[in-house]
Amino acid sequence: MHTANHGTPDRRWSKILGEYLSRFGIVVPESPAVLDIGCGNNAIWNYLALISYLSERALGFPQYVGVDMYEEAFSKAREGLEGLATFIACDARELSRHVEGPFHLILCQHPPLTTSKEGPRIWQAVFEEAARVLDPEGCFVLTSFWVNDHIPAQVAVQKAGLEILYSGKNAYPGKIFDKGSDGEDLQYDKYILLARKPRS
Ligand SMILES: C[S@@+](CC[C@H](N)C(=O)[O-])C[C@H]1O[C@@H](n2cnc3c(N)ncnc32)[C@H](O)[C@@H]1O
Repeated sequence: MHTANHGTPDRRWSKILGEYLSRFGIVVPESPAVLDIGCGNNAIWNYLALISYLSERALGFPQYVGVDMYEEAFSKAREGLEGLATFIACDARELSRHVEGPFHLILCQHPPLTTSKEGPRIWQAVFEEAARVLDPEGCFVLTSFWVNDHIPAQVAVQKAGLEILYSGKNAYPGKIFDKGSDGEDLQYDKYILLARKPRS
């Protein structure tokens, strides 16, 4: 099986942030507020990636908030990051009732748009909430396993009123772990999308 050679998920994500945020002129402030939507236990890797990205730029520590519909989804991460990060179990369609923005970075890694018919509608509502709590200078970063999730995610992000800066193959994907129903390789962070609030 082919394995992408970009290291552990935290190293990959540190490279992803380093390359894509600077490519699109996103300025990350000191101790940025970071929201991770549908974080699961991957929150650990994302937190470590932020530590590495920020320390290389002398930007301090992230104010990290992970949200997921299910408490069990992030229980290990919460244990591992006790005292360092905040975790909230909630439906992200009601995000602005549970978190206070603005967030300088919002991560949404592998939202499952195709697992149900309602997926695109559900995630559009989530992205509308994300747009509400995103800082005017902040960046929304989404990744997908495969194109069948990525294209509807891109459409939902646009419908949610965010301006897409980039959408396409990620230069730093992770492992291929399965094949989709149409034979496409499923791969961690295979596609990436960056978006921001539209300039008025
Ligand atoms: C495919 S998993 C991805 C988990 C993690 N981001 C990763 O990349 O490993 C999708 C996650 O989204 C969460 N989720 C699904 N619907 C949600 C919603 N409406 N609000 C918040 N989280 C949700 C699930 O519980 C699950 O943990």
